[in-house]
Amino acid sequence: QKLKALLVMGNWKMNGSLAANAKLLADLRTGLAEGVAEASAHFAVCVPAPYLAQVAEALKATEITWGAQDVSARDAGAYTGEVSAAMLKDFACTWVLVGHSERRSMHAEGDELVAEKAKAALIRGVTPVVCVGESLAERDAGQVHEVIAKQLAPVIALGAESLRQMVVAYEPVWAIGTGRTATPEQAQEVHAGIRQALSAAGAPDVKVLYGGSVKSSNAASLFAMPDIDGALVGGASLMADEFLRIGA
Ligand code: G3P
Repeated sequence: QKLKALLVMGNWKMNGSLAANAKLLADLRTGLAEGVAEASAHFAVCVPAPYLAQVAEALKATEITWGAQDVSARDAGAYTGEVSAAMLKDFACTWVLVGHSERRSMHAEGDELVAEKAKAALIRGVTPVVCVGESLAERDAGQVHEVIAKQLAPVIALGAESLRQMVVAYEPVWAIGTGRTATPEQAQEVHAGIRQALSAAGAPDVKVLYGGSVKSSNAASLFAMPDIDGALVGGASLMADEFLRIGA
């Protein structure tokens, strides 16, 4: 028996347009209203920054919360192209992803920077969703726990009080967008390690989401695992029915 409700969070990544979003958001609203997901799950979407105003307007009267996919570690000033946590707060963001593997690998974000971003979000009252996960080479080399521990270390160093206000997402890089999901047992093993680290740091109740090719057909078996508290969903979050079914 899990203590907390599931959290099912969509990550739209760099997808969408005003028109496509309008349809997806309307379908999400209708789907929820029709009880597609008479679920214990709480739903959230992390969207491209230019669409935050649209999403805020469309979801403000619903139970779905929203957020962004990245945030600057800096508060304000001469940082061309960056978006601050205060700006996310202006658009009533509940969440922001930090350290997604696509940012770590394609934008050279390191563990320290990710922790700084998490801190910047917390200061402005936006909940950071700290993403961690190993590559296939790292898994094959038997380094999973080591890699995750290294990624989490600077975040854990922010202290128990900060940690308790975060969410952690475990996304094995080899399972992202590949159709290849970690088995529930593989995921649970890593989640248990993360839980242990968080507990040792004084934050046992932090939600730990699993991400990587989650869809309605594999969600239930993942959620049955004791340390999986929800999902971070990429591709399947772009289809309202499928997304809502994940939390049904
Ligand atoms: O952040 C979610 C993500 O990286 C997983 O993507 O498409 O495999 O569900 P996907």
